[in-house]
Amino acid sequence: MYNEKLRKAINEQINKEFYSSYLYLAMAAHFDANALPGFANWMKVQASEEWGHGMRFYEFLTEVGATVELAAIALPPAKFGTPKEIFEQVLAHEQTVTASINAIYELSKAERDPKTELMLHWFINEQVEEEKNDRDIIDQLTMSGGNPFGVMFLDQHVMGKRKAD
Ligand SMILES: [Fe+2]
Ligand SMILES: [Fe+2]
Repeated sequence: MYNEKLRKAINEQINKEFYSSYLYLAMAAHFDANALPGFANWMKVQASEEWGHGMRFYEFLTEVGATVELAAIALPPAKFGTPKEIFEQVLAHEQTVTASINAIYELSKAERDPKTELMLHWFINEQVEEEKNDRDIIDQLTMSGGNPFGVMFLDQHVMGKRKAD
């Protein structure tokens, strides 16, 4: 029988991953509405990755014989700031997700559940990579100093080039 505290925590994490997907899709819609299709593309790829993270937790619960329980996904914001402010918001959001995954990792150790601990290694690495990507984009937007040509260059030559893994 799978540990009930971990089952509850992972079900909550599934909801957080699906919310991340919804948040990034809302950001994609904002960029699409504001003539930055490259930034919108980046957000759509990220939204699909986050959906995949939720499904990865879902499949794990299924594999260990624990029940998945879905909950309502919170409404994402509809109004956003500048591209740099948006990526600062993304980084802050990812930091809360990292903290949440770390908390489940600590719980899996306290509950002596090595299979959950091992499964979380992938997510711990993924969070390091995501936070780095977000910091790099923030730095590049800082370099552009709000110059529209800099933002358009990033849109076409960086953000627009991202493809699903
Ligand atoms: Fe995620
Ligand atoms: Fe993420």
